[in-house]
Amino acid sequence: MDRLIIRGGKPLKGEVEISGAKNAALPIMTASILTSGENTITKVPDLKDVKIMGALLSNLGIKFRHHNGIVVIDSSEIKNFEAPYELVKTMRASVLVLGPMLARYGRAKVSLPGGCAIGARPINMHLMGLEKMGARIKLDSGYVIAKANRLKGASIYFDTPTVTGTENLMMAAVLAKGTTILENAAREPEIIDLANCLISMGARIKGAGEGIIEIQGTDELKPIRKYEIIPDRIEAGTFMTIAGITRGDLLLKGCRREHLDALMIKLEDTGIAFKETKTGIRVTANNRPSAKDIRTMPHPGFPTDMQAQFMALMSIAKGTSIIKETVFENRFMHVAELRRIGADISIEGNTATVKGVEKLKGAPVMATDLRASASLVVAALCAEGESTIHRIYHLDRGYERMDEKLRQVGADIERVTS
Ligand code: EPU
Repeated sequence: MDRLIIRGGKPLKGEVEISGAKNAALPIMTASILTSGENTITKVPDLKDVKIMGALLSNLGIKFRHHNGIVVIDSSEIKNFEAPYELVKTMRASVLVLGPMLARYGRAKVSLPGGCAIGARPINMHLMGLEKMGARIKLDSGYVIAKANRLKGASIYFDTPTVTGTENLMMAAVLAKGTTILENAAREPEIIDLANCLISMGARIKGAGEGIIEIQGTDELKPIRKYEIIPDRIEAGTFMTIAGITRGDLLLKGCRREHLDALMIKLEDTGIAFKETKTGIRVTANNRPSAKDIRTMPHPGFPTDMQAQFMALMSIAKGTSIIKETVFENRFMHVAELRRIGADISIEGNTATVKGVEKLKGAPVMATDLRASASLVVAALCAEGESTIHRIYHLDRGYERMDEKLRQVGADIERVTS
């Protein structure tokens, strides 16, 4: 298992190329199931999760190639209709094959994802929506077994906005008969990206990115012709906190402010400065940040995927910051590890109180999930002395060449493979 050794304390300066967004690439890859032929997607990051999705598609009989950021998926033939436990347990986003398989082939057997480090994460709303569209669903031995004749349009209300739930139902609805309305739908930029890709395939979708999405089903879609994935706002946000905590100066190439507003406003309040340039966003920080409170929310609120990294930044802030996690019930796994690096954080229920300290001190720590790992990298880059971050396979699931990108801007970081 690889680990990272970081000797912190250096201000990081230079340019960082932001990769394509993992959480946009994964659903767009499954959208290829909706059509027959060769699909080409560009700016797909080289990540563990993308490889797992490739393996899942290959397991269905679909041909998958990924080279130099370009994914080619030949979905002419499907031989198998099952997403097995072995693949789904390693990546929850595997559930995104359910909607497209049911829409195109009228059948799918997908392992139930089960809980994970950050919460129970049920898929009840995905299933409720598909049932409303006419699917017959039963749960058997840990699998969702779904069948349908042609799906039909329906009005579906989400009790709480769900990102992959909205994506699954949007993909189911594009080939359904009639009109589907998704109410209280998720509004994340990745939803808009998927909708834009589906529209490029011939789908009729209105309102993606707003709370109500209207989809008129169609009989057939064209393959994806060179669709480019949006930049990864969470990778960009993570580098923003890195510039902040190291008092650095980073130009984040390719990222877009409109995807990052809530986070950037909060970071500006802490004292970090941003300047939009022709190529991206320049982030500079000269002083210790001021403490600010956050509450995670579905988009356009503060993203839960940035909570851990923001907490790392607040651990050295002037003052006390209150951090409330409202999206997932167990997303504080990084707290015990941040404490090992010297942070002063206490938790009560879904609220963390972070008392800023002047200095962090390097320590051995363990990554527990993707964004928790990122927060440990953020903290270690500012800590005095050496930190070793174990189990960084979590980081490799969602950050493309992060150690290399950090080294290029002056970080003292080393990957040890064992
Ligand atoms: N929920 C239900 N029932 C459902 C679906 C969701 O109760 O049927 C609940 C969840 O348990 C959670 C809330 O609704 O409390 C929101 O979860 P959501 O469904 O939106 O999360 P997701 O679609 O499983 C995606 C991202 C996550 C990101 C969340 C929230 C992908 C592949 N994953 O997950 O990304 O944290 O939205 O923004 O898009 C990550 O990249 O590190 C990551 C975890």
